Amino acid sequence: MATQISPRHGILSDDLRSEREELIGMLIKAYWMEIETVVSYTANSINPDGVRAQEIIESLEEDIQEELGHARRFGERIKELYGVVPGSLDFQPEQSYLQPPEEQTDIVHVIKGVIEAELGAIEHYNGIIEFCEGKDPVTQDMVTEILHDEEGHRRLFEGFLREYKLEGLA
Ligand SMILES: [Fe+2]
Ligand SMILES: [Fe+2]
Repeated sequence: MATQISPRHGILSDDLRSEREELIGMLIKAYWMEIETVVSYTANSINPDGVRAQEIIESLEEDIQEELGHARRFGERIKELYGVVPGSLDFQPEQSYLQPPEEQTDIVHVIKGVIEAELGAIEHYNGIIEFCEGKDPVTQDMVTEILHDEEGHRRLFEGFLREYKLEGLA
């Protein structure tokens, strides 16, 4: 009798091999989104000038740690699914909206950029969660937790933007 190598059910089964490869692709994209967010939030937590910038700087400093943690979790899941975490030469930046503004006192630019980055993550992670339905509850749970963090980040920065809008600054 042949020894059973792969599980019969779920994402590690032979039947779901091509779905597993597709999922790894989605997780790699998520990994890069997190890494790029770390890069963008680092710059935007250093560049801003002015009294009003302090709140944003502190908030981004906290987020950087969380986003790095997310990147790590995505990377570890990629490995568990028999994928390989890519090297830096594969990196393709996309966050045009989080580049440094002309004026470093332009906090609204930073706030809007963060909201857009979080929105992009929310969209992609919802897609992963849907894809995992009935195939991979472990990845689905993990990404659901990460999605919760991103929704919190987005809500926080929407609150900042609301304040600027009230004062006619956004
Ligand atoms: Fe994240
Ligand atoms: Fe986030």
